[in-house]
Amino acid sequence: MQQRDFLYQGKAKTIYRSDVPGTLIVRFRDDITAFDGEKKDVLTMKGRYNAEVSAFFFRMLEENGIRTHFLGMIDPDTMAVKELAMIPIEVIVRNVAAGSIVRRYPFTEGAPLDPPVIVIDYKDDTRHDPMLNDDLILALGLATREELDRIKAMALTINEILRAHLAERGITLVDFKLEFGRGDAEICLGDEISMDSMRLWDAETGQSMDKDVYRFDKGDVVAEYSRVAQRIIT
Ligand SMILES: Nc1ncnc2c1ncn2[C@@H]1O[C@H](COP(=O)(O)OP(=O)(O)OP(=O)(O)O)[C@@H](O)[C@H]1O
Ligand SMILES: [Mg+2]
Repeated sequence: MQQRDFLYQGKAKTIYRSDVPGTLIVRFRDDITAFDGEKKDVLTMKGRYNAEVSAFFFRMLEENGIRTHFLGMIDPDTMAVKELAMIPIEVIVRNVAAGSIVRRYPFTEGAPLDPPVIVIDYKDDTRHDPMLNDDLILALGLATREELDRIKAMALTINEILRAHLAERGITLVDFKLEFGRGDAEICLGDEISMDSMRLWDAETGQSMDKDVYRFDKGDVVAEYSRVAQRIIT
């Protein structure tokens, strides 16, 4: 597969067309940002650890009947994906209270959320990704009722699959963010599942194993991503 026109550069990934119609090439860059892009750095190897973990989970989800955009790896930091018409929402599944939900609502950090809580934000940096609800999603025409129900059901199934895999490795899946798009009439999981998009805690020590290490200067980010990636994929 050959890389063609540059399509889009986000905060952490760059998307290119390929010579195969309907297939895109996604390069996970070493750029890392936090707090709406206020904090940013370049961390060598970070892109490939995220790509590696994303590919691993996409494969695992496909084996479990979840449709994803993943087609295969081209390079350690680059994957081929099915082009989707992305739905501009961030679907966040929370198993444990942490981060923004604790700042905004009277939850105690670390409190289990059972059943898991799904929060959907509007993907719009200029508006600071405001939280949506079902009525807003329908009124804005972002998704149909059927699509929204499907997306939520997929998100919960994905949560169970990821959570079980991580728990076996002594890792608590605190929360994570998913993005979905429309494939050939079917809703597909897109984007990434990585240390940038999941909040992971060591089940024994409670230590952060994700982008919080970067956000809150908790240690060597790349060393942590490398360790976590090894724990996840082996
Ligand atoms: N299969 C796909 N087809 C089309 N676009 C996709 C696909 N998967 C992901 N994307 C889009 O590609 C972009 C990935 O870039 P990236 O994640 O770096 O940036 P961003 O989402 O704009 O910003 P950020 O996630 O940092 O807020 C996102 O806009 C995402 O919605
Ligand atoms: Mg993104």
